[in-house]
Amino acid sequence: MVSLSRIALLVTAAQSAVIPRDAPVGLKVRQTGAGQNAVTWDKYSFYVNGERVMIYSGEVHPFRNPVQDLHLDILQKIKALGFNTVSIYVHWGIVEYERGKLNWDGVFDLQPFFDAAKSAGLWVIARPGPYINAESAGGGFPGWGARVEGQWRTSNPNYTAAWQPYIDSVGKIIAKNQITKGGPIILAQPENEYSGFMNPDGSLNPNEDTEYERLLLEEFDNAGIEVPTVCNDAWIGGHFTSVDVYGYDNYPAGFTCSDPLSWPDPPDYFYSSHKDVAPNSPNSILEFQGGSFDSWGGFGFEQCYKLIGPEMARVFNKNTYASATHLLNIYMIYGGTNWGHLSNPGGYSSYDYSAAIAEDRTLREKYYELKLQANFLMVSPAYLTSAPVDVQKFPTNGSNITITELLDEVGGKQRFYIVRQTKPTETTSSAFKVDIETSVGKLTVPQLGTASYILPAHDSKIIVTDYPAGGAEILYSTLEIMTWKVIDGRTVILLYANAGESGEIAILTTKTYKVDVRRGKASTVTSKQASTSLTLQFVVGHETVVALGEDILLYVVDRVNAYNFWVPDVNLDQDLPVIIKAGYLLRTAKFSGNTLSLTGDTNGTTVFEIIAPKSAQAYTWNGVRLDTDLTRYGTQEGRYRTRTPRVDIPDLARLKWKYINSLPEVSGSYDDSKWVTADHTYTPNKIKPTTPVILYASDYGFHSGNILWRGHFTATGGETTFNLTIQGGNAFAYSVWDGGKYLGSFTGAPAPSAHNGSYTLAGPWVKGSSHVITILQDHMGLEQNWFGGEENFKSFRGLSDYSFGGATPTLKHWKVTGNLGGEKFVDWARGGYNEGGLYAVRKGYHLPGLDDSKWASKSPLKGIKGPGVEFYRTTFTLNIPDGVDYPISIDFRSSTSTSFRVELYVNGWQFGKYIDDIGPQKSFPVPQGILNYKGENTLALSLWSLEESGAALDSIDLVVRSEVEGGVGIVRNSLAPDFTERPGSY
Ligand SMILES: *[C@@H]1O[C@H](CO)[C@@H](O)[C@H](O)[C@H]1NC(C)=O
Ligand SMILES: *[C@@H]1O[C@H](CO)[C@@H](O)[C@H](O)[C@H]1NC(C)=O
Repeated sequence: MVSLSRIALLVTAAQSAVIPRDAPVGLKVRQTGAGQNAVTWDKYSFYVNGERVMIYSGEVHPFRNPVQDLHLDILQKIKALGFNTVSIYVHWGIVEYERGKLNWDGVFDLQPFFDAAKSAGLWVIARPGPYINAESAGGGFPGWGARVEGQWRTSNPNYTAAWQPYIDSVGKIIAKNQITKGGPIILAQPENEYSGFMNPDGSLNPNEDTEYERLLLEEFDNAGIEVPTVCNDAWIGGHFTSVDVYGYDNYPAGFTCSDPLSWPDPPDYFYSSHKDVAPNSPNSILEFQGGSFDSWGGFGFEQCYKLIGPEMARVFNKNTYASATHLLNIYMIYGGTNWGHLSNPGGYSSYDYSAAIAEDRTLREKYYELKLQANFLMVSPAYLTSAPVDVQKFPTNGSNITITELLDEVGGKQRFYIVRQTKPTETTSSAFKVDIETSVGKLTVPQLGTASYILPAHDSKIIVTDYPAGGAEILYSTLEIMTWKVIDGRTVILLYANAGESGEIAILTTKTYKVDVRRGKASTVTSKQASTSLTLQFVVGHETVVALGEDILLYVVDRVNAYNFWVPDVNLDQDLPVIIKAGYLLRTAKFSGNTLSLTGDTNGTTVFEIIAPKSAQAYTWNGVRLDTDLTRYGTQEGRYRTRTPRVDIPDLARLKWKYINSLPEVSGSYDDSKWVTADHTYTPNKIKPTTPVILYASDYGFHSGNILWRGHFTATGGETTFNLTIQGGNAFAYSVWDGGKYLGSFTGAPAPSAHNGSYTLAGPWVKGSSHVITILQDHMGLEQNWFGGEENFKSFRGLSDYSFGGATPTLKHWKVTGNLGGEKFVDWARGGYNEGGLYAVRKGYHLPGLDDSKWASKSPLKGIKGPGVEFYRTTFTLNIPDGVDYPISIDFRSSTSTSFRVELYVNGWQFGKYIDDIGPQKSFPVPQGILNYKGENTLALSLWSLEESGAALDSIDLVVRSEVEGGVGIVRNSLAPDFTERPGSY
């Protein structure tokens, strides 16, 4: 994902620097590698196993879902959209937290994801970085990278030596899972948005480092990657064209969540720019806006969804089809969670992204809108060889309209008209006529009566001409096509429009058909039979079904009803053409014997309609026989009543909670001798501090969670204030103590990532006395590194300057700690980022299985008196039956006006960082598999009070977010160790 503000300045400058490619026209296979021919391409589209295909893909990050059994849930949901591909990033930093020790075990194993993709019937675009951005910690770069000098994302040999072992390792995993080896991977992408470049002094560099690109491609080759390589230029700037197929990103709706209709005007189309840069490969958008990120103090993803909801998908995705886009990857289709400190400082625990599939895995309306669009493209092969030939722009008595006409260059006949408001923010609906070219000449549609073509505000529609749908030759249709199938010799076409609109379809035929309205009101259908065509006009209601003899069955439904239809890939190879009406989610369809076995999720009462060949005589839903009746047009209809059992959800507020003080560091007797001594006098960091020793956490191997600093001093006498410059990332905070005396805090705000503070000491220091200054700071994640050559991800966490007022004491030494072990972290199963530096976490008290019976009892609702940190634990049992999907979150209510921070640990997994006074997140989804749905759970949380007045939670609740029957099946708990005494812990 792009850092939009940072690229804005580059785009204009770069548009003149487009580099044309001079590859020959015709079918291309990857030139290097083993000469595979499983994935090839020409100037229009990709071919997979020789078949021309639209690549319709959704982005998912396996690292943002630490429950392997839930990948299949997400992937089945993506497959059910009609998509055929999923695109992934791999986060280098999490798998090589300690340099040289790659961790592909447990939740970090990619194999279960690839296996799930294969079993869902999806191809994979693998994007392993080394740089990924992704709003993730370091943009994928490991924390130890801060100590590797020189420019990253260049051919700097220090950097090359850093990434090569990782790319070699992940490259081999990708190679093993390529389509040529029977796996799902069809494309591989080195780097990410390698589009903006910086000189060491921070000035912009117009040139990409082509040697770096060559080294990456060479390492891909060495690892055995033979599928085509792609890139995702942040805009069509002609960067990294040495990959096999050039691609780019596009986020056209912007990110102004505060204003849900702040959509900018989209470019007419990118087609000509694409042709300038990559005329011989398919127009490929490797990232297309599927949602929005949100930052600390932001608006929340429900608000962002208003900006990037179903209307956005209608207006902007269709605008993209107007550019003849033949690889489209929606970023994100499912965002997931920044568990275990995986976010960069620009984001928070939720990476919901306002995506079509929400963080809790429920489906938003946008999901259903995308399903209509993807299914249409999948049954419209001529789209893949179409290119824009004309753009009409005209005013109407409502708004101004833009229509792009695409012509199938290969067949020379079919056309697609993409109709939209010229200004996407237009609030007026328009009624007008459209001029179209057809095989019978120019027509102005709609033709019958006085009807107009209606384009509501925030909408866009596609008109087709000379469109072959099985046995029907559609001359044109102003109703949109969702799908069509030939079933037992009869062509079934599913058409839709908004409720109440009129729409028209003309079919080329010399037969005379009786227009037989088998369902719906006959009065809503008008028709005109001519010698070579039949034109039908509908006023679109819930559902009208018209039979044209035994040849054609037309379903005309309103858009919301169209959402209920699914086009499953039966047995994953479509040997049975079916269309199924099934409500909330149809996951899979298998046909064997005479039984069509369907699986999926329902809520409420679901009306099923099975439009399938007669060879399917029995139907099951999640293994249970579906009773159906024959409709008047030969399909089967039935009703299914969902059974969602009530479950007991414990009231967290009433549980028995135990607690301990988690800031023993500010008690007089505290011994920090086991801490790392911060005694470096050199930092590889470009920002050189003024401190006598380096106080940057990454220099000592600490990269996530809380960091503690302890400075030991001998007073000169008369010291009165302590001043510091400290950095922790956006929304960070810190508290300062002089021995046991609290001096104050910076409570943080959404934007500041650093702070200059001045604190009055605990009385003027007496000459010769010893003092310890303790600083507890938040670490909001490593920064990203959007520009090639910049070193932003190395931004320090810690102090760049400190001083005393009144007098200057003598420094004895500084001590520092973060997570126990730093890069040599303890918990291999949950990964290096999961733990922070708080006492209780260093000790492992966040883990299940600890005997806390000797701890005192207190609830976090009672809370902490004064400033400091307390750590709370409780346990509870869940017993949620199989056969349902009940996503659960842990929710907080807005609390008192005091400032505090909470880190949530669920069965040892850090699954939320709650900052009440900054927000916006108050609800923290925790997936099944992290939550044990069938037994005991340990919930632990740190409560850091940043004020004298103390802090307490107003509420803490387990909330069932949704209840559906069905689900993906058994979800096993992610395996990770329980508590054991940690030798050497402190
Ligand atoms: C590579 O690292 C070494 C020290 O580790 C440093 O002296 C050298 O300048 C670095 N090279 C570049 C190109 O930054
Ligand atoms: C249509 O476009 C014309 C020319 O750009 C402009 O003057 C007019 O205001 C627009 N009308 C509407 C309704 O937006």
